[in-house]
Amino acid sequence: MNTESHPVIQAQSVSRVFSRRRGIFSWQHTVGVAGVSLELGQGEIVGLVGESGSGKTTLSRMLMGLDKPTAGEILLLGRPLAQFSRLERARHIQMVYQDPYSSLNPARTVGTVLDHALVVHGISDAQDRRRRVAQALELVGLLPRHAANLPSQLSGGQRQRVVIARALILQPKVVICDEPTSALDVSIQAQILNLLLELRARLGLSYLFVSHNLAVVEHMATRVAVMYAGRVVEMNEAEELFRRPRHPYTRLLANSGGDSRREAQRPASASL
Ligand SMILES: Nc1ncnc2c1ncn2[C@@H]1O[C@H](COP(=O)(O)OP(=O)(O)OP(=O)(O)O)[C@@H](O)[C@H]1O
Ligand SMILES: [Mg+2]
Repeated sequence: MNTESHPVIQAQSVSRVFSRRRGIFSWQHTVGVAGVSLELGQGEIVGLVGESGSGKTTLSRMLMGLDKPTAGEILLLGRPLAQFSRLERARHIQMVYQDPYSSLNPARTVGTVLDHALVVHGISDAQDRRRRVAQALELVGLLPRHAANLPSQLSGGQRQRVVIARALILQPKVVICDEPTSALDVSIQAQILNLLLELRARLGLSYLFVSHNLAVVEHMATRVAVMYAGRVVEMNEAEELFRRPRHPYTRLLANSGGDSRREAQRPASASL
């Protein structure tokens, strides 16, 4: 399923080389990402798979503007990402990280975390902020009373809901999910994945969905890009890619992931 709308974010032949000084005259270069072109249409979920070290996080960080490409360009809503200020970027594109334990400040209540995101973006009307915090909690299936809780008083799934609420409170267009459920119990994973799908339908969000788990990617993604050694070696509609993997590495990945795909709890069967 492809949306016909223009890309919300687009990587054009993007590369990232990490250079580290080894001696006085010598440098060590590591290629993180090598000439990747990728676009995400409105409402689309592009899955990004590949073995450890293949460049998924490096690409995600560049799309977020957290790291600059050494070559190529990233366009956000058709404009070079470099032209956006940090705050402007954060309004359009947000990230949900793997580990809800380390991505929340343990000393801040849920309400403070969400309120802070609004304060940083200059929303000065306290009443408006309270309303938005309540809406964000409701959006992710939490209750108003959770605003008073510290992260340690919540379950892993509830914490990840807070992380999602924080990502969505500024109404971004794009959310980059880097292994958003791999730190959670299998039974909770399905709930969070289905919540992400529901929110995407409700809010017209676009996701770049990074995961090692092929069953998860198959469930979530409309299109899938396979990375290998810094390059996208294959990109196709999700169904087609899993039915007929073309690149040898994709076949290898599909085969080696075979066991985990069978074992993984099918998120489709879970309810919210
Ligand atoms: N800050 C850095 N300095 C030097 N090399 C880096 C840096 N960040 C990433 N790399 C290198 O770039 C390559 C891609 O790393 P990246 O973290 O993007 O992989 P990944 O696909 O996200 O892996 P994983 O699945 O383990 O999260 C690796 O070879 C890595 O060692
Ligand atoms: Mg990574």
